[in-house]
Amino acid sequence: MSKRIVVLVSGRGTNLQALIEATQSGYIGGEIVLVVSDNPQAYALRRAQEAGIPATVLDYGLFPNKKSYEAALLEVLERANPDLICLAGYMRILGKGIVSRYRYRILNIHPSLLPAFPGLDAQKQALEYGVKVSGCTVHFVDEGMDTGPIVLQASCPVFDDDTPHTLSERILQYEHQIYPQAVKLFLEGKLRVDGRRVVTVKE
Ligand code: GRF
Repeated sequence: MSKRIVVLVSGRGTNLQALIEATQSGYIGGEIVLVVSDNPQAYALRRAQEAGIPATVLDYGLFPNKKSYEAALLEVLERANPDLICLAGYMRILGKGIVSRYRYRILNIHPSLLPAFPGLDAQKQALEYGVKVSGCTVHFVDEGMDTGPIVLQASCPVFDDDTPHTLSERILQYEHQIYPQAVKLFLEGKLRVDGRRVVTVKE
């Protein structure tokens, strides 16, 4: 049976698009069964619709508090019965309940070489710090902010005339490569978590 992937989004959804294309081409042997957005305006919802993927909006602003939002999200996830949850530009910290329910079954992509520059505006943080190399990281989600065990990373140069925009665009090309790669490895059962280290099991 095809593995079930749920993707959580908040925005434009280029990583969602990369995952959609990787499932459509057969690179990833799994199916995106649901896209969930906390933002009704997310362009990612259009991408899901165009790909014929069901989408659910849980408009964060309509919930009285984080607890009730997380309860609704957990219910949606339970119904979708995912093998893997992918955060793809999802702009919220997942609550502890969901993290522990799906421990080592939630992946996130972050636009820096973690543990450097976690949180918002990672590319701007990297530029302001003056690093010469940056990149992106796919990691398992734990209770912290961008702190979970690292699955894959890709690096790219930072140029003297970079702006947050040009650096983000460069990093994004790599995001679209390593996120499908990490999902493929996960769904093939090739990732083993050993403390902080994620080991790729060879054939
Ligand atoms: C990406 O840079 C991703 O690393 C970060 O948020 C951005 C989302 O972009 N978590 P998109 O919505 O996938 O285009």
